[in-house]
Amino acid sequence: MNILLFGPPGAGKGTQSAFLVEEFRMKHISTGDLFRAAIKGQTPLGVKAKSFMDKGQLVPDDVTIGMVREALAALGGQSFILDGFPRNVVQAQALDELLAELKLSMGKAIFLQVPEEVLVGRLSGRRTCKNCGAVYHLESKPPKAAGVCDQCGGAELLQRDDDKPEAIRTRLNIYAETTMPLKDYYKSKGKLAEVDGTGEVVGVYKRIKALLTA
Ligand code: AP5
Repeated sequence: MNILLFGPPGAGKGTQSAFLVEEFRMKHISTGDLFRAAIKGQTPLGVKAKSFMDKGQLVPDDVTIGMVREALAALGGQSFILDGFPRNVVQAQALDELLAELKLSMGKAIFLQVPEEVLVGRLSGRRTCKNCGAVYHLESKPPKAAGVCDQCGGAELLQRDDDKPEAIRTRLNIYAETTMPLKDYYKSKGKLAEVDGTGEVVGVYKRIKALLTA
């Protein structure tokens, strides 16, 4: 079972991917996480990506597609969730070519539907563990002890640079202009499945799981 999760910034793609990985042992390929790991490792890719990401802009397609090619080629037969890629029609077409080249197939493209006013609250309240990357929210998912990661005990829960108000606005605009058209792209291919991404995290997961196991 290979799938694609897409939707606006803060829709819960990373949160839901973690449940899918846990239950179905799928490989989570998140372009955002791959870029953040490259930034942390101060690699040339990371240095390039950071200048775009901090402003909420997309990293150039050629860089992103090359990175996804490597991740897909390294799967070794494991099923995958693509999160955050593709983000525009050029990337979607490149993905189709990559899948054909690597003899992989992809099932549903699951779109997480969340209204904009909810997204802003989710993004501005998100905090991420500097050490292990675990994701929290000041209101909907606070850590058990304030400021301390439940998973690794790390004491730095940070706000992402692109979760500050100006970058959030840019990301939402770019999403509306370039990523939303992917709904039509996958609809025309008979792969689009829309899921209500509002309400309790576990409720959203149940809806996704019902789609995958139907
Ligand atoms: P990326 O990391 O992919 O960011 P994004 O798509 O904007 O998505 P987010 O990570 O912000 O949100 P999410 O949907 O995963 O939500 P989450 O589960 O964390 O990309 C970052 C940047 O990298 C891009 O801006 C771009 O620069 C670059 N990039 C990445 N891919 C690229 C590509 N293909 N091409 C070019 N550039 C690319 O949840 C958010 C918060 O809400 C959390 O605090 C969570 O706890 C909370 N939450 C989640 N679900 C619920 C719920 N049901 N109820 C209440 N709270 C919830």
